[in-house]
Amino acid sequence: LNIGLLYGGRSTEHEVSMRSAESILAVLDKNKYDVVLIHITKDGEWRLAPGSDEIADLNDDESARKLRVQPSGQLEGLDGRMLDVIIPVLHGTFGEDGTVQGLLELAEIPYVGCNVRSSAVCMDKDMTKRLLKLEGIDVADSVLFKHHEKDDVDFTAVEEQLGLPMFVKPVNQGSSVGVSKVTDAGSFREALALAFKYDTKVMVESALAGREIEVSVLGNSDLFVSVPGEIIPDDGFYSYDSKYTDENGAALEIPAKLDETDKQNLQKVALKTFETLDCEGMARVDMFLLEDGRIFVNEVNTFPGFTSISMYPKLLEASGVEYSELVDRLITLALE
Ligand code: DAL
Ligand code: MG
Repeated sequence: LNIGLLYGGRSTEHEVSMRSAESILAVLDKNKYDVVLIHITKDGEWRLAPGSDEIADLNDDESARKLRVQPSGQLEGLDGRMLDVIIPVLHGTFGEDGTVQGLLELAEIPYVGCNVRSSAVCMDKDMTKRLLKLEGIDVADSVLFKHHEKDDVDFTAVEEQLGLPMFVKPVNQGSSVGVSKVTDAGSFREALALAFKYDTKVMVESALAGREIEVSVLGNSDLFVSVPGEIIPDDGFYSYDSKYTDENGAALEIPAKLDETDKQNLQKVALKTFETLDCEGMARVDMFLLEDGRIFVNEVNTFPGFTSISMYPKLLEASGVEYSELVDRLITLALE
């Protein structure tokens, strides 16, 4: 099979994507797959990597061959070679949000992971919550502000509704980029200004005092659900730095220490969330487990972090699906 691996992308998670792609490339069986590596630069250009052994950084390589997607079954620039499946190892906007998925639909190239609709909905934390609420799935209270309202936000009114602390989040970002935890009026202003740098919609959400638990789901219709894992944050919340840069960043507890009832309830909510949002192939469902056993869905990641030590693959490994088998299964699911 000819596999196209897309990495990089026009989002704030460009570097994270390159790390995810490195891990995936390392396990793709060269006897089974011919791999074509395509770097989407920070400017959005699709550049063909010179070989297929390493995730090359082509951001500054103007001489790299440029590729273009044709809206009818072709990727121009590959000398007529067709790709059987694309793995869009892209996190965040212009990659995980349905845009690339739409392009691949038009080009009629099968791809790993969620379809256009579920990718788009899951990228938007506010839309996700509205749909889950309709299905009776608990989500934290929140208020949405659009760009034109940003100078009229009244801290006291928001605080009355949501209580303190609260989180301010750009609606369409991943890896906690632009997210702040707010405890007073001053930090609220700063947090809003920061979040609006990344998005035209910003959500203010009440902070839930619960354990942060994540579950991996794999499959199209016959769904496999992993054991839950827990995030043990180091600095108050699971920030970008605690995810990727701090030496003593957040720790992952896999599997999470849970009693059987909580575990099963978390898995049930994860499955219901996956189905409600019409996900396909894979998703990681991030939840909060409260002291009294209630479960709140925080968000859904349709192309979750995918390094060999990331939560999504680690949870599946702990559930009997080891990393290289996982990648094989995702490719098979894309062709179903
Ligand atoms: N958005 C990052 C990659 C994650 O959720 O794992
Ligand atoms: Mg998350």
